[in-house]
Amino acid sequence: MQFKNQYPPQKVSLSLKNVSKIYLQRNSKTITVLDNINIQILEGEIVTILGKSGCGKSTLLNLIAGFENSYGGEILLNGKPVKDISTERIMMFQESTLFPWLTAYQNVEIALKMAKVPKHQREQIVKHYLSIVGLFDYSNSYIYQLSGGMKQRVSLARALSLNPKILLMDEPFAGLDITIKKSLYKELLDMHKKTRKTILFVTHNINEAVLIGDRVIVMSPRLYGIKKEYLIDVPNEQRKDNLSIKNIINEITADLYDNA
Ligand SMILES: Nc1ncnc2c1ncn2[C@@H]1O[C@H](COP(=O)(O)OP(=O)(O)OP(=O)(O)O)[C@@H](O)[C@H]1O
Ligand SMILES: [Mg+2]
Repeated sequence: MQFKNQYPPQKVSLSLKNVSKIYLQRNSKTITVLDNINIQILEGEIVTILGKSGCGKSTLLNLIAGFENSYGGEILLNGKPVKDISTERIMMFQESTLFPWLTAYQNVEIALKMAKVPKHQREQIVKHYLSIVGLFDYSNSYIYQLSGGMKQRVSLARALSLNPKILLMDEPFAGLDITIKKSLYKELLDMHKKTRKTILFVTHNINEAVLIGDRVIVMSPRLYGIKKEYLIDVPNEQRKDNLSIKNIINEITADLYDNA
């Protein structure tokens, strides 16, 4: 496994050791989705995951989020076993999970209320994270008044406001058009520069994976796990039209289409 910026050595944030997941289906048959997965993610790293539909990307994120407690192997966050859901591991989905009848401000605040953050601290936190995603001026807008991209930015602000140790993103920009996506990539990378959050980001889009990730993991349904990993050792802002990036994109494309 290769890491960017190995010197000085960085702390491991998330560690998956021999993780496997078998689902029991309605007809009592079992299906193996993940088998013997080993991944280490460093603090502050952005790792993107690509793979064909059904290869287990969401399953992997669900295990890390703590939505499913029955699995084989070990998942450790900062050395502690992952169990149940926690504000240390926040998931952001493709579909908006915001309340349309509340404002952007209230949608972020409600998460803090549920996490029992005292009232006097909430205002500062909500304003801070709405500013980080560039939506401070839309604090009082209702969700139904916002575009798809803005909604995902509110979701991002809400996830960040809980100060998770790792942000799990399951195709968060999949339904959006390319111009909105481009501004969200910038937003996400700017946010990452400011917060150095550890991010695990699932996508179907090869360009997106290579543009955002410090590392790209390609999964294969045939292997029930990881097929290949790519270290993206070019600064994000220099990746467009970069020859080594183009070569990586070609290699990943071949990985995804070779049926192994
Ligand atoms: N709760 C469940 N019970 C039974 N089988 C499940 C369950 N969740 C997922 N699966 C099966 O596990 C496999 C992997 O599903 P998963 O949703 O992780 O794939 P994915 O890589 O995220 O796909 P996509 O790219 O379409 O989102 C699929 O065959 C799916 O049918
Ligand atoms: Mg999925």
